[in-house]
Amino acid sequence: MKKIWILGLGLALAVCACGNQTQNTQESKEEELVVVNDHSNDGVLRVGISMPSDSLERWKHDGEFLKKHLEEAGYKVDLAFSDNLIDTQINDIEGLIENKADVLLVTAVDGKSLTGVMKKAAEHDIPVIAYDRLIRDTPYVSAYVSYDNYRVGQLQGEYMRDALNLEHAGNKIYHVEFVSGDPADNNSLFFYQGAYDVLEPYMENGTIQVMSGQTDFYTTSTAQWSSINAKSRMDILIGSYYSSGSTLHGVVCANDSTALGTLMALEDSYRYENAVEVTGQDCDVANLQQLMNGTQSMSVYKDLDQEALLAVQLTEAVLLEQSIQADLASTMGIPCIYDDTSYENGIITVPSFLLEPETVTAENAEDILVNKYHSYELGPLGFERVSE
Ligand code: BGC
Repeated sequence: MKKIWILGLGLALAVCACGNQTQNTQESKEEELVVVNDHSNDGVLRVGISMPSDSLERWKHDGEFLKKHLEEAGYKVDLAFSDNLIDTQINDIEGLIENKADVLLVTAVDGKSLTGVMKKAAEHDIPVIAYDRLIRDTPYVSAYVSYDNYRVGQLQGEYMRDALNLEHAGNKIYHVEFVSGDPADNNSLFFYQGAYDVLEPYMENGTIQVMSGQTDFYTTSTAQWSSINAKSRMDILIGSYYSSGSTLHGVVCANDSTALGTLMALEDSYRYENAVEVTGQDCDVANLQQLMNGTQSMSVYKDLDQEALLAVQLTEAVLLEQSIQADLASTMGIPCIYDDTSYENGIITVPSFLLEPETVTAENAEDILVNKYHSYELGPLGFERVSE
């Protein structure tokens, strides 16, 4: 048993039970962390993976892909999906700890709800890697693997700017609405902010009018990233602001599930003939169909396999107690940026390894998804994911 003294909540200190001690920068009340090393030490290292849900295409794919590659690398893997429920995820993680995980990979349902269970992991000497979504309000996160989430939003905003030709709008006015992500997901604000920052000058000079007046993150957010919630909100906005004479030109949707909801609302409630520009993210198969039939305008591609393979390498680095720093990014063999300033979680700034997203449209989809990344093939039914 070892004892580690850490500072209490609400301050800038990180101590990771796996030995990655980091510095404290502020004094506050101290808290004792009693670390019991009860790893199985049977020669097989165990990775516990906690994913938000298998009902969204991407998490099912990520979970299964991570498991397969970690098993190929010789680890034993326990994979849990939490039905997008906070309590289920906490139970899942407790189960992974009891199953003697040596390291945890966690994609949080709610970034702010795992403080207690992260402490429990630290007490069992289990390092944690935040996968795709940052875990907030805890010092016990060794590293974060994700895409550059702000850049994802910028790509959506830039697409909207160029598709509507806002730079050369003259006196024309364009009506745009925002459909943001789940406020419980730390990524959502980054996506929103990236898009908002690109479009803000056009809102300020009057080229873009948001008829609903709903422009802030929380008002435009979509609980649980649900298509149904996005559709309900858009049905109301269309009924209230776009049913008698006002054309809707674009909807900045944060991802593909919110884009699907928006497309359903447009089909059910919007009475005008104009093509509405709709953004997305993830290149889900259902959305690629919408892209090819012209109803969705773009999606942002994040190569899930690259992200997962990066996480596999970081898992190994953490288990080997390598220090998590910039040099590591260059040894990964996967182009990524090391960022130790952007992802402050309320207690520490988590060292982050970020990949670059790309814009996908009907015009470049085959080139990017099939020819460049080889992650989809074009079958008789359209794009299908290539499963490795
Ligand atoms: C991910 C997106 C995904 C969304 C909904 C975000 O945290 O980065 O890729 O679309 O969650 O699951």
